[in-house]
Amino acid sequence: MGKRKNVADPGQADVSPERPSLVRRGGSLCLEWGGMSVCADFSRLLQRTRNGRLGGEAAVKAAGGIKKEPRTAVDMTAGLGEDAFLLAAAGFTVYMIEADRDIASLLRDGLERASADPELRETVSRMSLTEGDSTLIETVPGLQSPPDVVYLDPMFPQRRKSGFVKKKLRLMALLEPPCTDEGAVRLLRAALALRPGRIVIKRPSGGPPLGGARPDFSIPGDVIRYDVLVPGDGKFTGFS
Ligand SMILES: C[S@@+](CC[C@H](N)C(=O)[O-])C[C@H]1O[C@@H](n2cnc3c(N)ncnc32)[C@H](O)[C@@H]1O
Repeated sequence: MGKRKNVADPGQADVSPERPSLVRRGGSLCLEWGGMSVCADFSRLLQRTRNGRLGGEAAVKAAGGIKKEPRTAVDMTAGLGEDAFLLAAAGFTVYMIEADRDIASLLRDGLERASADPELRETVSRMSLTEGDSTLIETVPGLQSPPDVVYLDPMFPQRRKSGFVKKKLRLMALLEPPCTDEGAVRLLRAALALRPGRIVIKRPSGGPPLGGARPDFSIPGDVIRYDVLVPGDGKFTGFS
């Protein structure tokens, strides 16, 4: 993880057949491979935050809904920051951690562009990114006290149907294989160590709970399910 650095000039885009390349296109940093191209684009998500739709987002429901009071979330598997953006739109200050250097570069670039966009600026002002492995990081920069929410969305084998999501995850899967059982337990232990109010875990519908941890409750969906752990006094015993 985090060992590639491969930014091509679009004029002479040398897209390796073996691995994705970072390419600048029209002001955005994109990851490209085999005719697929992905960049971090928060403007695409705006429609999901408008006209009362945000409260219906399963990630937001699982994190406790939309509230005015200040809350914090640590996204330990930030990816392109899309779920983090929905949480930030719901009022969370979100501390994102991303281990893959190329994906972190895309996310940083997306945040920079969004900061200059009047429609996105306010929401992304509550999002910050740390590059690194969230299971190894000792403190989350900027986080002052235990977060209300830790959010986990490790890579799982793909079943999603939408063309865009398929393309995005196919590309990301080239960089990041699906999370192993050991990786899942490491993530959960690191999440618990932050003493959050709850841990929200994105899973494929019908898939097993991450690391065998029994959720306190779940929010079902056709493709995605959210498992929510409420560790309470820190004596979590939910590992199978
Ligand atoms: C499925 S993607 C997350 C997508 C994200 N929820 C979104 O909305 O864009 C999983 C991401 O987690 C990252 N990741 C996996 N294990 C990690 C770890 N231990 N620390 C930090 N990032 C990790 C991967 O590099 C990958 O970018």
